[in-house]
Amino acid sequence: MDGARVLWVTGGGSGMGAASARAAARDGWTVVLSGRRADRLAEVADAIRDAGGTADVLPLDAADPDAVAAAGETLLARHGRLDGLVLSAGLNAPRRRWDDQSLSDVRAVIDTNLTAVVTVLDRALPALRASGGTVVVVSSYAGWSFQPGAGVAYSASKTALGSVVRTLNQQEAAHGVRATHLCPGDVATDFLDQRPSVPDAAARAVMLRPDDVARAVSFVLEAPSHVRVDELVVSPVSQR
Ligand SMILES: NC(=O)c1ccc[n+]([C@@H]2O[C@H](COP(=O)([O-])OP(=O)(O)OC[C@H]3O[C@@H](n4cnc5c(N)ncnc54)[C@H](OP(=O)(O)O)[C@@H]3O)[C@@H](O)[C@H]2O)c1
Repeated sequence: MDGARVLWVTGGGSGMGAASARAAARDGWTVVLSGRRADRLAEVADAIRDAGGTADVLPLDAADPDAVAAAGETLLARHGRLDGLVLSAGLNAPRRRWDDQSLSDVRAVIDTNLTAVVTVLDRALPALRASGGTVVVVSSYAGWSFQPGAGVAYSASKTALGSVVRTLNQQEAAHGVRATHLCPGDVATDFLDQRPSVPDAAARAVMLRPDDVARAVSFVLEAPSHVRVDELVVSPVSQR
């Protein structure tokens, strides 16, 4: 295919999604950013353009299948191809234990972390098959090993992403599609505000930064096309 490779990033308006988009743009990708807050997407896209990169925004709620289908259509109409997908949209809830969770929170977390990931993948796969595309599913340390503090819905949804990646790799490798289950430990982002006990500045200072994870995403995206990184666990040295 001619032209720049096109990367679709969900959760692209903040944290690891934004950092991964900035890194990919530096590597020459055209990045298309999705998330619910259009202003955050526009800020990231402007910064990418100011740095000489190419960025587009498609605001959406990844848990809304119609919105995902419409965005997928628009992306292909505007850019004509899709070569990569970084799925970074995610959610947790402060009340996350069996003795305090609400079922509406449980549904929202599973909808965002699992069902929305499958929904975007389902929409993107025909184009990814055509390009032999690369998928990075931003899961969690809690999707790799049991983390008692992560909560019922979060643990279950992130653990399930390991299976999503494995079925993708088993069934779609024939089309050159490859997927990575990326499992970051603690990262200093707004996401931490959803914890029952919000970490202070000192605790955040010893965590990973979004750019640390973006380097891992870039490593996966830039690997030669015959190389698959099935699972990648990246944690701060301070992780216990
Ligand atoms: N921070 C950590 O310690 C940590 C560790 C391991 C894994 N993770 C995972 O890393 C991923 C990125 O999180 P982050 O730490 O970078 O925090 P973040 O900045 O809060 O990023 C989460 C992103 O998800 C987007 N999002 C949430 N619900 C969405 C929806 N329904 N539709 C579209 N976008 C949605 C948010 O944007 P809008 O609100 O604008 O939609 C936001 O940009 C998440 O999947 C999280 O589970 C985080």
